[in-house]
This record gives sequence, C-alpha cells and structure tokens, in this order.
Amino acid sequence: MDGVDLADLAKEYGTPLYVMSMATLERNIAEVKKAFLGDDAMTETDCAVAEFARAEAETARAKTEVAYASKAFLCTAMAQIIERSGLSLDVVSGGELFTALRAGFPPERIIFHGSNKTPQEIEAAVLAGDVRIVVDADGEVDMIERIYEKLVSEGRLARRGADGADMPVRVLFRINPRVDIHGHEYISTGKADSKFGFSIDEDVIYPAIGRAAAAERVRPVGVHFHVGSQVFDNTAHKAAVGEALKVVKGVKDRLGVELSEVNVGGGFGIRYTDGDVRKPYSYFTDPIVGLVNEYCEANGLAVPKVIIEPGRSIVGDAGLTLYTVGSIREIAGIRKFVSVDGGMTDNIRPALYEAKYEAAIVNRAGEPVNETVTIVGKCCESGDMLIKDTRLAHAESGDILAVFTTGAYGYSMASNYNKQPIPAVVLVDGGKAQLIVRRQTYEELAARDLPLSEH
Ligand code: LLP
Repeated sequence: MDGVDLADLAKEYGTPLYVMSMATLERNIAEVKKAFLGDDAMTETDCAVAEFARAEAETARAKTEVAYASKAFLCTAMAQIIERSGLSLDVVSGGELFTALRAGFPPERIIFHGSNKTPQEIEAAVLAGDVRIVVDADGEVDMIERIYEKLVSEGRLARRGADGADMPVRVLFRINPRVDIHGHEYISTGKADSKFGFSIDEDVIYPAIGRAAAAERVRPVGVHFHVGSQVFDNTAHKAAVGEALKVVKGVKDRLGVELSEVNVGGGFGIRYTDGDVRKPYSYFTDPIVGLVNEYCEANGLAVPKVIIEPGRSIVGDAGLTLYTVGSIREIAGIRKFVSVDGGMTDNIRPALYEAKYEAAIVNRAGEPVNETVTIVGKCCESGDMLIKDTRLAHAESGDILAVFTTGAYGYSMASNYNKQPIPAVVLVDGGKAQLIVRRQTYEELAARDLPLSEH
C-alpha cells in the first residue's frame, strides 16, 4: 500500500492496526475539489484558459464550499491534512471541535453541528471565533444569545467585527426535508420520522428563523439538511434541495432576510464490495447546483453558496485494517470461523448496520482464494462478526488479514468494550509509514478509574 509492505507494518506496529493511504486521501480530496470547487490540477498552459472559464462560470454558478465531515475519521494529523487542502470542517461535538482547534484549524472554516448541543459546547464554539453553528432544535438560538451575553459580561469574549461591534454568530438551520434514501434505517436521517432538524411546516420553520433574525447576537445565514449515508441515487438530495430552496424563498418573502448558504450535507456512497458502484461527485453536485441556480433565477433570489459535507467518500477507501488471525474453527457441514484479534470494537459497522466488507490474507497474496469462511472478532458477542461467508485463501493462525475500505467510521466509532485498547493508526505515504495515532495502553484504559473510597 503506497509502497509500504503491510506485513512489515503489522510486525512493526502490532495489530489490529488502521492503515491510511495518503495518496488515496489526496486523490479523493482532489476529486471533490475538481468536481465541486472548480479546482483542477492543471498544466501551466491549461491554467489561463481554465481561469477565464472559471471567472465566466462564477457569474452564473453558485459559489461552493466543501466541509469534510470529521465524524468519519478525525485525529490531529487528519485535521492538518484537511486544513492544508483548503477544505472546511464539519464537527458535531465539543470533542471534535476541540481536536480541530487544537490542531490549528481556523474557526471560520468550521461548521458546528449537533442535534442536542450542550451549553458547554455552544460556549466553546462561540469562544473559538467565527465558527458557524447549525441550529438543530428549538431553544438553541436562545441558548447562543444567553451564552454570548454571559461571555461578553464576563469580559471573556473579544469578537470585534470591522465596525467595532461584537460579531454575531453565523447560524444555519437544519431542516427535515422529509425524503427517504431507502437505505438502512439507522443511516437515514431526512425522513419525516427523524430526530434531526426543524419541520418545514410554515408555522415551525419561519418563527424559528424569525427568532434568529431578530436576535442581536445571532445572524441567520443559511439552511442545512443531511439525507443519510452511503447514498447511490441523487433523487433524495435533489428533492431535499428543492425543499431547502422553498425555505430560502419563504425567509426572504416573510422575514426580508436573504440566506446566503445552502448546506446539503454528505452521504455520497462508496465501493465497499463488488456490488457497490461509486458515482462521481458531479453526479450529485451538478444537479444540486443546477437546481439552486435555476430556482434563484426564476424567483429573483441572490444565489446562495452551496456547501457539501462528504465524510466517507474522502476517507473510506483510503483506509484498511490489519488483523492477526488467531483460532480457526470448522464446524462440520455448517461454517468455518476465522477469528482475528479485533472485531466490533474497531469496526462496529457490520454489527450495527450489517455493513459488508471484503478482505484478503496479506501474506498469501499469490495463493488461490478457495475457501468460504466467516471472519469473527474476539469479543464476547455472537454478533461480533466482521464478514460473513467471504472467500479467502486457506488461512493459518498467525496470518495477517486485511479488511478493506475501513477508513470511515472505523476508528471514529471504536470502543473499549471488553477493555480492548483502541488500535493505532498509521499513515502511509510514498513508501514511508508514520504513526499518527498511538495504540492505547492497558494503563490508559484504567487511568481514569478511581479506587473505592474507604467510607
Ligand atoms: N453531514 C452531516 C450533518 C452528517 O450527519 C453526516 C453523517 C455527514 C455530513 C457525512 O456523511 P458521509 O458523507 O460520511 O456519509 N456512522 C455511520 C453513518 C452515520 C453518519 C451520520 N452523519 C456509518 O458508519 O455508516
């Protein structure tokens, strides 16, 4: 992988081990920039022509922004990679915000989500600087106002705008567009029956945004939706953007406020197994931008900036997980189980969503793939199954197994169940490997425990 021998990595860093490819990360980032930001890796002669074409296009097309959804995979090095790439960052908790800021990520490129933000999280976002907050529930605008006032009165907030006034907090409103991606129920987020966002009923959404428009410390700048994950069909995104645009128009007509951002979330599907055919970003983004431009022209609206938030499609296929094969059990006439030294603690997706993966034995790359086995983890759970009925070369204890496409929601959803330490993450780049997250130690597992008091 990227010129690095995976068996050597397993030996040097131990297993389970997450391995991320810098080349694939860069390729995915370049692809989204090219498709959506009009940014291309061009030869010098192409440059002048493209610059001219882009200037022309900019007058007609909506402006665009890409915010990487850090919930898919975040650590300090990843925040740095995204920072350097020029993309923005979607965070969804105080912890993700903290990690991003600590890595030096500029607040004005951070978008802060969350369906139930705590006062502490709002305070951290307001204190950080010009972070955009995606308001998800009633009461949140009031909470931002209250916290802003408190910080000003305590002399802790020095957010001066150009005219010397305190800068209001830019907010977007998450709407529930009532569309169905027909995917796994747990990763469908835009259906009517969903915990996320505001209803688009007139008596709900306009009073909510109106409250923000009237607030002193808050400035409504946009609407947001996220329809769900691992989506291969653009119908839901197109339907949802139609709903978002109606809200943009409604806000202008009723409140006299022009919203300048439409954030359409992420969800763009990737290839986990042969059955998945990844669509180019443009398959989703071109019709979205087209709809925004057309609607705004037809309705005399200023064209808002369109924001996308890809997570999985940036990091998913950049990662794989290495395991060491342990016990192998063949139950005559039923199934052959190949156990590995990780499982649901480093990849919960098969247990949670019945997600499918493919694997190979690293040290048997040239051998025939002639057995059907089920790869299971080491947890005390029957559901700790990584891949059911997959084809592998004949496995022996001590082999190194690679499970592919684990870069998204593997490390980020890892747990300490059964007191399994969180594995290390190694970044491979041009023949070199670099540890970017150290393996958790047993000592660290118990470090926050306090002994029972005497009384
Ligand atoms: N923006 C918002 C507001 C989101 O809620 C999400 C994902 C994304 C962007 C990124 O979606 P992506 O491009 O990565 O599909 N843990 C699950 C999926 C749930 C993700 C929830 N939100 C999984 O392992 O598949």
